[in-house]
Amino acid sequence: MNDLETIVQDAQAAFSRAPGPADLENAKAAFLGKTGRMTELMKGLAALSVEEKKSRGAAINVAKQAIEAALSDRRAALARAELDAQLQSEALDVTLPGRQRGQGGLHPVSLTLERIEAIFGSMGFDVADGPEIESDWFNFTALNTPQDHPARSMHDTFYVEGGSAEAPNLLRTHTSPMQIRYAVQHVKKYKAQAAAATGSLFSGDMPEIRVIAPGRTYRVDSDATHSPMFHQCEGLWVGENVSFKDLKYVFTNFCRTFFESEDLVLRFRPSFFPFTEPSAEIDIQFQTGPLAGRWLEVAGSGQVHPNVIRNMGLEPEKYIGFAFGMGPDRLTMLRYGVNDLRLFFDGDIRFLSQFQA
Ligand code: DAH
Repeated sequence: MNDLETIVQDAQAAFSRAPGPADLENAKAAFLGKTGRMTELMKGLAALSVEEKKSRGAAINVAKQAIEAALSDRRAALARAELDAQLQSEALDVTLPGRQRGQGGLHPVSLTLERIEAIFGSMGFDVADGPEIESDWFNFTALNTPQDHPARSMHDTFYVEGGSAEAPNLLRTHTSPMQIRYAVQHVKKYKAQAAAATGSLFSGDMPEIRVIAPGRTYRVDSDATHSPMFHQCEGLWVGENVSFKDLKYVFTNFCRTFFESEDLVLRFRPSFFPFTEPSAEIDIQFQTGPLAGRWLEVAGSGQVHPNVIRNMGLEPEKYIGFAFGMGPDRLTMLRYGVNDLRLFFDGDIRFLSQFQA
C-alpha cells in the first residue's frame, strides 16, 4: 500500500469513527485543513520535477477526491441518523388505547321519570312542569290544608324569602300544587275558547283534565330513606264522570307496566289527606322475586275534595275526579333493588354508571 492509499484509508476510518457532525469536521481538518496531511503532500510537490509533478499531482488529486467523497458520505449518514433519532423520539404509538371521554347517561331517577311519562302518556295524560319555589296558597291553602296543619310547621317545610307573613314563599313540599296550577290554566283556556266559539263547532264543553306533574320537592328530612330534596309525580284526572274505579284501573295498569309484572297486586288502604275525600294509600305486592309477599307503599291518592275542585275554578256539583302522588325515587329503588336513597344524590360515578344501557 502506498502512502496515498494509507492516508485515504486513515481518513475513511477517522470519518466513520466520528460520532457526530462536530467530530467529523475536526477529523476533516486533520486531512484537508491548512495543516492537514493532504495539504502537506501538496506542498511537497514544489520540490519535484515537472514530469514527477504531473503524475504525483494527479495521484494526490485522486486521493483527495476519495477523501472528500468519504467525508460527504459520512455527513449524509450522520444527518440521516439525526433525523431518524428525532422521528423515533417523536413517534406516536398508534396501538396504545386512547384516553377516552366516558360515555354519559341518564340518572336512574330520570330513567324512571321517562318511564312514568311514557306510560301515562300512552293513557292520554299530559305532562306538566311547575315552579319549585311555591306560594303558601298553591302548596297548602288551595289544597284545603288548614292553617294549623303540621306540614306547615318550620320543621317540615323550607320557607324562603319573599312573600308575606300570611302567605310566605316556600320550597314546595309536594307536587300537589300542580293540580291547582294546571287545572286553573286548563279551565281558563277552555272558557276563552268557549267565549270565542259561538257559532263554531266547539260545543263549549271542557275536555277532561288528565295530567301528570313530575318534579323535585323538598322537606326538612334526611336519613337512608328520606332526602331533603326528593322527587314526586302528581297525577290528576278530572271530568264529569271520573270515579275511583278509574283510579284503580289507571294505577294498576301503570304499576304492572312500570314493573313489567302482570301478577303484581295492589291494595288501596284508607288514609287521610286534606285535598282528597275519601283518601287511600296505595300499596303494591310482588308475587315473585326478592320482594315477594311484602306490601310496599308507593303512592297517596283519593277523590279530589270539593273545596279543591272549587279552587280549580270548577263546580264540584258537576266535576269530579281523582288525584295521586307517588315517589319516583322509591319506585327506582324498588325497580333496581337500591337500598339507600342517598346513593341517588351522591353523584358517585361507580354507582350511576351501573344504570347505563
Ligand atoms: N301530596 C301527598 C304527599 O306528599 C301525596 C298525595 C296524596 C298526592 C294524595 C295526591 C293525593 O294527589 O291525592 O304526601
